Amino acid sequence: MSDIVGGIFTSHVPGIGLAIARGQQQDPYWKPFFDGFAPIHRWLAQTRPDVAVVFYNDHGLNFFLDQMPTFAIGAAADYQHEDEGWGLSGFKPFTGAPDLSWHIIETVVEQEFDPVTCQSMLLDHAVAVPFELCWPDTDAWPVKVVPISLNTVQHPLPSPRRALELGRAVGRAIESWTGPERVVVMGTGGLSHQLDGERAGHINVDYDKFCLRNLAPDPEAMLQHDTLDIVELAGSQGVEILNWLAARGAMRGSVRELASNYHVPISNTAAATVLLENSAMVRA
Ligand code: DHB
Ligand code: FE
Repeated sequence: MSDIVGGIFTSHVPGIGLAIARGQQQDPYWKPFFDGFAPIHRWLAQTRPDVAVVFYNDHGLNFFLDQMPTFAIGAAADYQHEDEGWGLSGFKPFTGAPDLSWHIIETVVEQEFDPVTCQSMLLDHAVAVPFELCWPDTDAWPVKVVPISLNTVQHPLPSPRRALELGRAVGRAIESWTGPERVVVMGTGGLSHQLDGERAGHINVDYDKFCLRNLAPDPEAMLQHDTLDIVELAGSQGVEILNWLAARGAMRGSVRELASNYHVPISNTAAATVLLENSAMVRA
């Protein structure tokens, strides 16, 4: 039986990757954001998960507007990072966990989800930046990865309930995996931000704080807004909170917040980092 030991939730702004490459973590602009990772580094050093199941959105790298799966699950033995134009380079390759990926795919299909299965996949800043934040200064990532991409780009987007339920289905799949791996789930993106159009730069502190307050104890509260409500509240890219909802859904045990950090702005984004512990898992 595989255990989901916790969840890490973080913004994935590409500029963070550039700041890391330039060693700017202690600069006044960046320090309040990077400081939010100290408790996560301590927790990872103690907990030592083997696999990260990452809920994120592909930003046009694998899937563009002409072909957009609502959900896609990676099942490759390895993945490379590629940049879609942010000037990010040098991210280490990722090792996959194809057996676990296929188990997750089979189990979620049994639960009536229909993901696209990807035996080759490139990973963009939405995976690479959170990995570099969690495991800085390593020669190789200390975890394998199962990437799960949600469409937060091309409407119609999945509903918040569907994202939460996808996460729950993935959580059941991981719990029924007979391997010994300890799994951390990750939800990347958000919080409020809009990169284009008349409302470029839109940030909604009240909505972000509502999400941060409810993520651990009551994610169902976040279902009171539908996807278009969230676009209005949080901005056209703030809807990446769907990735957080999915990751939260995978945590079906007793969930406790261990750390939370919120800092406005990083680039155009209200940046947030949350660490949740998952214990006493239900297996059904
Ligand atoms: C920014 C945020 C994102 O989530 C993203 O994918 C790209 C850019 C930003 O704020 O710069
Ligand atoms: Fe993004």
